[in-house]
Amino acid sequence: QDVDDLIRRLPKTELHLHIEGTLEPEMMFALAQRNGISLPYASVEALRAAYDFSNLQSFLDLYYAGAGVLQTRQDFYELTRAYLQRAHADNVVHVEIFFDPQTHTARGIPFATVLDGIRDALDEAGCTWGMSSRLILSFLRHLSEDEGFATLAEALPHLDRIDGFGLDSSELGHPPSKFAMLFARCHELGKPCVAHAGEEGPPEYVWEALELLKVCRIDHGVRSLEDPALVKRLAEGAVPLTVCPLSNVRLKVVDDLARHNLRQLLQAGLKAMVNSDDPAYFGGYLNANLLACRQSLDLSADEVVTLVNNSFEASWLPDVDKQRWL
Ligand code: HPA
Ligand code: ZN
Repeated sequence: QDVDDLIRRLPKTELHLHIEGTLEPEMMFALAQRNGISLPYASVEALRAAYDFSNLQSFLDLYYAGAGVLQTRQDFYELTRAYLQRAHADNVVHVEIFFDPQTHTARGIPFATVLDGIRDALDEAGCTWGMSSRLILSFLRHLSEDEGFATLAEALPHLDRIDGFGLDSSELGHPPSKFAMLFARCHELGKPCVAHAGEEGPPEYVWEALELLKVCRIDHGVRSLEDPALVKRLAEGAVPLTVCPLSNVRLKVVDDLARHNLRQLLQAGLKAMVNSDDPAYFGGYLNANLLACRQSLDLSADEVVTLVNNSFEASWLPDVDKQRWL
């Protein structure tokens, strides 16, 4: 299939990826053993069988529990290195990845341990493959804004190694407005901001992310089509939507990939693209997401190129570097 070859061959970028969501069951078991942690699953197969989610929260419960095996700088390095190897194999040349420091500092793991390990692998991928990267500190929205401020205080000594800020975790009941002051502070620090919105939450949350958090991208945003005024705003502002198709299917945001609104988003003039979100939990990395969309939605070569170009354009690469890939 020509389009499938195109998908594999094209240089690509990934803009919506949670590094904790790349923890494969095999590595979870290996790290649990190395760190003397017992997992409530008998085997890798039993763990994988538990990846049968009914919504975002049922996934998050497992995702936060799984991250408990990550303890040392070496653990975070190995996790990130394994992801970057898979991304490189998919011809991904640039990544902008999220990390959730609160998931780890709440367990007594120092902020610097997490950051140093992830950065070791990102720097190595830059040296080895010329892969460029950005690292996005994502706040957990089920926690309070004060806890977000405490995390930001821990990040301050490391701001030279943090490229932007994000907002993730349980969306319903935790609107962007809850974090308006925190994101205002993030902007004062001169960093770009993004937020998950319109995954399970209503279009109103996308509006809040734009107007109150002043984000430069919306993570997911697939529910935006429910509000024509919002579609107009996103189109006029050329606001990128980092859509994650396999995630949407596995978390029951859409009932079937064949009914995903990816094409409708593009046809509405929105800067949508494809990303992998938490690939170890959702059944595939970037190429797998694009290939599944090609198959279920019969994506054309032009649509694939548009999705990939939208992703480079939405990235935080300087214009000269974008030109290399567009
Ligand atoms: N949505 C919200 N929070 C998350 C996700 C997601 O898809 N993945 C990891 N944390
Ligand atoms: Zn996400």
